[in-house]
Amino acid sequence: MAPRPIAIIAGVGPGTGASVARRFAKAYPVILLARGTDKFEKLAQEINDAGGKAVGISADVSSAESLTSAFKQIEKEFPGASAAAAVFNAAGGFVRKPFLEVTEDEFRGGWEVSQKGAFLFSQQALPLLLAHAKDPSATHPPTLIFTGATAGVKANARMATFASSNFAKRAIAISLAKEFGPEGVHVAWANIDGPIDIPGRDDYRKHLPAEQKIDPDDIAEAYWGLHAQSRRAFTNEIDIRTSVEKW
Ligand SMILES: NC(=O)c1ccc[n+]([C@@H]2O[C@H](COP(=O)([O-])OP(=O)(O)OC[C@H]3O[C@@H](n4cnc5c(N)ncnc54)[C@H](OP(=O)(O)O)[C@@H]3O)[C@@H](O)[C@H]2O)c1
Repeated sequence: MAPRPIAIIAGVGPGTGASVARRFAKAYPVILLARGTDKFEKLAQEINDAGGKAVGISADVSSAESLTSAFKQIEKEFPGASAAAAVFNAAGGFVRKPFLEVTEDEFRGGWEVSQKGAFLFSQQALPLLLAHAKDPSATHPPTLIFTGATAGVKANARMATFASSNFAKRAIAISLAKEFGPEGVHVAWANIDGPIDIPGRDDYRKHLPAEQKIDPDDIAEAYWGLHAQSRRAFTNEIDIRTSVEKW
């Protein structure tokens, strides 16, 4: 019998990453990747206490070495397991400032996570997803989902850094969808259009009414809906916004 398939979430924090982990843990063992162990320790404990299986691994998606070591650890924990789902959710390089004041480091920061990170993570995850596509006992087609933002479709003033790295992430998603769709891997890019209601986040979002903030549990449910789609009806791009968002 084939080992139980896993779900890998890259970029786990208290918002979307945690919600996606909880949702996919209802069906699969989940691997939680973030640089800081504080991001996943409690969450892994919570999922394990609730009867699921979660393993947190400290990894930096912008480093090939770090990701290679994380995937070696995954293979050690779950020998021979294929991946039913992989979600690239790492948040990086949000910069909104006058273009002439943007530093090279700030520009590179967005690129390192959203573009290079998406590339490196996909190269590691795709072999496991392709293995799942060949498993006749698979319940759903393997799914690779990229969390994006409106900056991936619309470059506003003072957003050249964030927008260019998000355009790049979306371009990777579209290209992979076309290359790997015929092989049975469902690749999707999600435009999260608006502020996410991240538990404990103490910034401008704290003062917004709940109806103006996207519930990360609802994002996770939408991702599960993508995952459950059949090979005969893949959605490759999805917009998620509140009913009151101006767009
Ligand atoms: N928050 C919003 O309002 C909003 C709105 C629209 C779109 N989005 C998109 O949503 C996604 C993030 O979801 P979220 O905001 O709800 O965040 P989240 O899931 O709460 O946290 C994302 C996690 O990514 C991890 N991360 C950042 N850089 C990383 C790296 N180099 N390697 C590995 N992990 C890394 C961070 O942990 P470490 O720092 O410990 O690594 C962070 O905890 C991003 O794609 C973002 O652009 C967010």
